[in-house]
Amino acid sequence: MNLKKAFTLTLALAMAASLGACGGSTSSESSSQPASSEAASSEAASSEAASSEAASTETGSLAKIKEAGKIVMCTNLAFPPFEYIGSDGKGAGVDIDISQEIAKDLGVELEIVDMNFDLIIDSLKAGKADFSAAGMTVKPERLEQVDFSTEYVTSAQYVIVQAGSEITTDNLDGLTIGVQESTTGDIYATDEIQAKEVMRYKSGVDAGAALAAGKLDAVIIDQLPAESIAANSNGKLEVLPEALTEESYAIAVKKGNQELLDAINATLERLISEGKIDEYVTKHMTEAA
Ligand code: ARG
Repeated sequence: MNLKKAFTLTLALAMAASLGACGGSTSSESSSQPASSEAASSEAASSEAASSEAASTETGSLAKIKEAGKIVMCTNLAFPPFEYIGSDGKGAGVDIDISQEIAKDLGVELEIVDMNFDLIIDSLKAGKADFSAAGMTVKPERLEQVDFSTEYVTSAQYVIVQAGSEITTDNLDGLTIGVQESTTGDIYATDEIQAKEVMRYKSGVDAGAALAAGKLDAVIIDQLPAESIAANSNGKLEVLPEALTEESYAIAVKKGNQELLDAINATLERLISEGKIDEYVTKHMTEAA
């Protein structure tokens, strides 16, 4: 029934948008007339005008977001300190705080949709969410599918083991390794290690629990989630000191949604320059439990 409602709403919005577009093109026609008659031979000027007009009618997403009064962010709430379910049962974390600021700067409400990490890119492509803040590492193969914002955190893959384990980062071959499905940890374990088996979990937290229960030899996951999982394991788990990779996180949007990306980048750059991201990390490393 929700779907039906959403569909009706989308239809109403589409109609409103097409009405808006009609009005818009009339006024832009008349305003572009002096420029085109003045510089009739300037191909560059007229094609620039045409492409910016096409972009604003095609995506129109900022206008739609503002009209709906909300922006939809999809993530996977099992990746502390970046995203987790807080003590009030709601989404919390560094990426949630950043997303709240993006919504605030746009003057709209934030709606969070929790899903498996491996579904995020398809959800953006299908327009089911406006953006994703999910501690997502910028990778060339992902850049073919979505557009990324300014990078806001640097990270790396680390190895979690049982406390006191003999395992080192040099002898990961032959082990049963747990990862979160479709993450860069999964890609590393699959491509760079001759593991006995790679066990793919729906969340990093689940992989950590399986390791603590003795079902795995090691878990490969991003740095701060590794530290957070170990810190919350009652001393059962520890993180090996060496990093396996170098990575950076960015926010993802549907390919070509430059207007929204510009708005997201403006908020990110403000937060970075105000030192807010570091503040969020410190806060959620203590709060995520
Ligand atoms: N940085 C890793 C990747 O991009 C893991 C991200 C997992 N994020 C999450 N919210 N579960 O593949």
